[in-house]
Amino acid sequence: MPIAQWDKSYCTGHPLVDKQHEELFRMVNSLHDAIVAGKGKEVLGPTLTELATYTIQHFKDEEGLMTSINYPALAAHKRKHEDLTAKVKELIAKFQDGKMVLSVTLSAFLSDWLRHHIKEDDAALIKYTREHGLVAKPVGAGR
Ligand SMILES: [Fe+2]
Ligand SMILES: [Fe+2]
Repeated sequence: MPIAQWDKSYCTGHPLVDKQHEELFRMVNSLHDAIVAGKGKEVLGPTLTELATYTIQHFKDEEGLMTSINYPALAAHKRKHEDLTAKVKELIAKFQDGKMVLSVTLSAFLSDWLRHHIKEDDAALIKYTREHGLVAKPVGAGR
């Protein structure tokens, strides 16, 4: 059973945002599986870094979308992205320095964060675009 189980209730209705979210689920699950399997730093390091890179790009894409539609809750939503980014960057630094061991507490945290953020913040954003008849511009050109 993957730690982050994707289902249709996570669909916001924005195809590219949804595609990126699904990929994030897949990456959190890979990280989780690697931790459970007791993989070493040579596997966990790149897995974690890829997840962080993809997440940051996804956040940028969503923020671009928010800016393009003058989304009223942009600042609050962006702050949540920034808080998570800061936390993950700090964690990667500690991990690379050998000051921290990755455990399923991390993958569970990321899974929870992602699932709640999608259902609360991202769903609200896409709903807003629909309710205001805004065309949610494509983001992230095919990512
Ligand atoms: Fe998102
Ligand atoms: Fe978001």
